[in-house]
Amino acid sequence: MAFPTDRPRRLRRTDALRSFVRETRLSPEGFVYPLFVCPGEGVRKEVRSMPGVFNLSVDEAVKECAEVKSLGIPSVILFGLPESKDEVATGAWADNGIVQQAARAIKREVPGLLLMGDVCLCEYMSHGHCGIVAGRQADMSKEVAEFIHELEAQGKRLIAIPSPKSRSAPSATAVATAPAIAAMAAENCEILVAAMAAENYEILNDPTLELLAKTAVSQARAGMDIIAPSDMMDGRVDAIRTALDDAGFQNTPILSYAAKFASGFYGPFREAADSAPHFGDRRSYQMDPANLREAMREIELDLEEGADMIMVKPAMPYLDVLHEARLRFDVPLAAYQVSGEYAMIKAAALNGWIDYERVMMESLLCIQRAGAQVTLTYFAKEAARLLA
Ligand code: PBG
Repeated sequence: MAFPTDRPRRLRRTDALRSFVRETRLSPEGFVYPLFVCPGEGVRKEVRSMPGVFNLSVDEAVKECAEVKSLGIPSVILFGLPESKDEVATGAWADNGIVQQAARAIKREVPGLLLMGDVCLCEYMSHGHCGIVAGRQADMSKEVAEFIHELEAQGKRLIAIPSPKSRSAPSATAVATAPAIAAMAAENCEILVAAMAAENYEILNDPTLELLAKTAVSQARAGMDIIAPSDMMDGRVDAIRTALDDAGFQNTPILSYAAKFASGFYGPFREAADSAPHFGDRRSYQMDPANLREAMREIELDLEEGADMIMVKPAMPYLDVLHEARLRFDVPLAAYQVSGEYAMIKAAALNGWIDYERVMMESLLCIQRAGAQVTLTYFAKEAARLLA
């Protein structure tokens, strides 16, 4: 049967009819609101590339959480900006870490809100990578060594990349040629050493697992209800599950960022969380944006290791991945509508180029239609207000 018998427009004639046959319904109950917690008191510092998103001190984060809860949003995910950073991410797993402090305060002041802890090290590492970095020792040519000395004599700051052999005395490992360095030094010498090391480092998988597991346990101790590892090291779900169980947190679920892609859409987040890598990129641990089948394998492995819930990230450019995950895996599925997705929509709206509310709600609806039952989104509060 076809036209003129079939007329799909019959069901689109009125608001009442459209609403009656609607397949996907948005509700704040599926939202998670990300928060960036920083030291201090009374701090509310807007993130330049994310209008409407703030770095919040613990007291302000508590206020924010009360508002989030009153809007019917069930959960927040916490990211931390520590007082100081080092090469073993102490701020991530310290019991008085910034995120742990925030979790305790929020649990006390806003009971009932589900607290999700992002388990990663990049915000707490001096170099901004999600794991322990080892430089592969390379012979520094005499020419390059002399050049570095000259820069140091000029009082320029060099970022030292530790080598595994000489952990106590970190030294820059050089692979660039002196003329190339000279050109870069004219710009900024921090970039210089970073660029030299970029070709010559490795993110160590197995030693990193220990730090991730410690981070997860300290977060659970501080009151996190859900542990969400986002680092993309192999075997981290298993390491975290084992550590949580050993510490008596058998009932704390893991939401794994199982299919997390090496995406340019994380740019504004790295400003918000001060977590951009100082050299190189995350392509040796986060996934290649070209690979859907590999994403399915990552999810499968995380589920085998004990993940209770899985996530695809980013959301909008990866709706096919999300959908395929929905078809293949019968566990709760989350999507992270990341900072760049938020920033693009905000920026276009601020320019008057799109209808902000309409595009925001459409983006959230489509992520849910593709398969997400939970969406981590910076729009959570604004969307919840519109849905009320
Ligand atoms: C930590 C982490 C990142 C995001 C969530 N957890 C940044 C990254 O991987 O570089 C990105 C979230 C966003 O862009 O909104 N590794």
